[in-house]
Amino acid sequence: MSKGTYYITTPIYYPSGNMHIGHTYTTVAADAMTRFKRLTGWDTYFLTGTDEHGQKIERKAAEAGVTPQAYVDAIVANTQELWKLMEIEYDDFIRTTQERHQKIVQQIFRRFYEQGDIYKSAYEGLYCTPCESFWTPTQVVEKDGVKCCPDCGRPVEAMQEESYFFRMSKYQDWLIDYIETHPDFIQPAKRANEMLNNFLRPGLQDLCVSRTSFKWGVPVDFDDKHVVYVWIDALSNYITALGYGTDHDELFRKYWPADVHLVGKEIVRFHTIYWPIMLHALGLPLPKQVFAHGWLLFGNDKMSKSKGNVVYPQPIVARYGADALRYYLLREMPFGADGNYTNEAFLTRMNADLANDLGNLVSRTVAMIEKYFGGDVPAWDEAVEEPVGNDLRAHCAALPALVEEQMNKLQYSQALAEIWKVIGECNKYIDQTQPWILGRDPEKKGLLGNVLRTLAECVRFVAVLIGPFMPATPARIFEQLGLQDEGLKTWDSLDRFGRLPAGIHVCKGEALFPRIDVKKELEALNPAPEAPAKKEEKPAKAKKEEKKHEEPEFPEVIAFDDFAKCKMQVGRVLNCEKVEKSNKLLRFRLSFGADGERTILSGIAKYYQPETLIGRQVVAVTNLAPRKIAGEESQGMILSALDASGNLRLMSVMEGVEDGAIVG
Ligand code: MSP
Repeated sequence: MSKGTYYITTPIYYPSGNMHIGHTYTTVAADAMTRFKRLTGWDTYFLTGTDEHGQKIERKAAEAGVTPQAYVDAIVANTQELWKLMEIEYDDFIRTTQERHQKIVQQIFRRFYEQGDIYKSAYEGLYCTPCESFWTPTQVVEKDGVKCCPDCGRPVEAMQEESYFFRMSKYQDWLIDYIETHPDFIQPAKRANEMLNNFLRPGLQDLCVSRTSFKWGVPVDFDDKHVVYVWIDALSNYITALGYGTDHDELFRKYWPADVHLVGKEIVRFHTIYWPIMLHALGLPLPKQVFAHGWLLFGNDKMSKSKGNVVYPQPIVARYGADALRYYLLREMPFGADGNYTNEAFLTRMNADLANDLGNLVSRTVAMIEKYFGGDVPAWDEAVEEPVGNDLRAHCAALPALVEEQMNKLQYSQALAEIWKVIGECNKYIDQTQPWILGRDPEKKGLLGNVLRTLAECVRFVAVLIGPFMPATPARIFEQLGLQDEGLKTWDSLDRFGRLPAGIHVCKGEALFPRIDVKKELEALNPAPEAPAKKEEKPAKAKKEEKKHEEPEFPEVIAFDDFAKCKMQVGRVLNCEKVEKSNKLLRFRLSFGADGERTILSGIAKYYQPETLIGRQVVAVTNLAPRKIAGEESQGMILSALDASGNLRLMSVMEGVEDGAIVG
């Protein structure tokens, strides 16, 4: 029997560029909470997705020479792959370009208009295009006499536009009262005070909810000059994904209101003022909680795509696994506060907490059971007193409740700290009881058995409890413990200390988290730029030759992360033909094995007869935004090298490589 329903959401992210470690932070937090609630018996629903409309996406797509839809499709595919890599298991991924969403947004907008919540007027203000925000003259900051956006620091432009407005002011008193009487609604509590003092009590401005200056949005169905402006479109996702407003709204009826919307602190205002007012105007209950977490900073700056100072998870996960990164993100900073991400802090914590504390505990416990008991977990010997471990056993038995208490407050870091306190105590207990000395005295066998059994049971507790945070690690620990009974890997099985069966056979495996050389790893993750070699002056003739080949100018050195962004894969040519109207282009249909097929155009028609390439393997970059070439969409780039005579030669691989294999 489930304890009830639990609905959790992340913001839907802008697919204006690939998601970075900041977006990963929120999504990992939502995933860990979902897993924790599921473990503890709740019927969970976890929603994430992408917020795909707006002028910025429209512009970026135009710059890339593709349609906005093609532009976001590529980024969404990358996002979903990233969530898979991070072991994130959502129940639904909503995209605001989906029909299921757009139809209901139109319906909601029309309803607001018909009931008098929305009216038409004109908007005047200072507009920041990258942030898609209007600012008032008192909000903008001046830099060298230029008015700039207070968020991103770039210049704002004065703009006027016919717009629809939502009469927010009408609901202001109701919302003040709601927030004051529902102290859990906005967390951490200081954010509630900010909302009350900075926005609600001074008086709410009506909100501009449509645009005429761009087209990439949900059209207002009764006034087609307008598209619905971002927040009504975006916020509605939390209910459109559940089927609200349709005749198949079972999920909505089951899961709404949400238990918690996780958001970064910069969008609290939208979630705790505009969203509640929208819901109230629709006659719907409000989410039980909006939790605003802090920012992952880079130095003192918020990491963001528009500032270009971002860290991407892929290279980190490729080296250390998703669990290590998930652990760091959830452990390093209290949820709600800002924190820094640095490779150094990550690697240092990995060594201390994962390799030393957890890894050593598991490997020492297993090794000692092997050494002193032939690998069989000893039974508890009632005849032998073992008082040193009394506190540890009591503490471990109480641990699930301590973790749950912290998780109910979304204090991931504290929850992990509780688990690590027990791990620390276990390691101390080994030092205190000195099993290697007990092992020398056959009379102490019973005592030694009780010590090792205590440790093995603590390890079981720890393995169950870290699952929500580090989903791949428990199975590795259970394997080493030799524990197969699924019933002993559950939350309910932690109701009593000592359930671990005697006689199961441990099996020493690879170190869970091998100790790493921080300095070396730092170099690998972040290679120090070498002093640029002095450029040799090339003879005039050589320079001319180069020009003919149009060799691109490369920077002297690039960060490893930049290289790692480029996804190259082996593809097999299923079909290849000349593109009509072009004497340069060949159209390739390529298979990337489990990753599917795609079409790529390549300017090598002068160098190859297309039919001779069918069946061969080539190398292609597969995460480039799709591009229109000669009116056709090309979904990647095939790599080739220039030979000495200036001919392009296709790159290939030696035999035995599967289609879709990653190159790098
Ligand atoms: N599309 C809106 C949200 C609409 S929700 C109805 C949006 N998108 S976003 O792509 O800018 O994502 C913002 C969210 O991503 C933040 O609120 C936060 O959850 C996460 N983060 C992005 N950068 C972050 C950091 N540097 N640090 C922590 N979280 C970060 O706003």
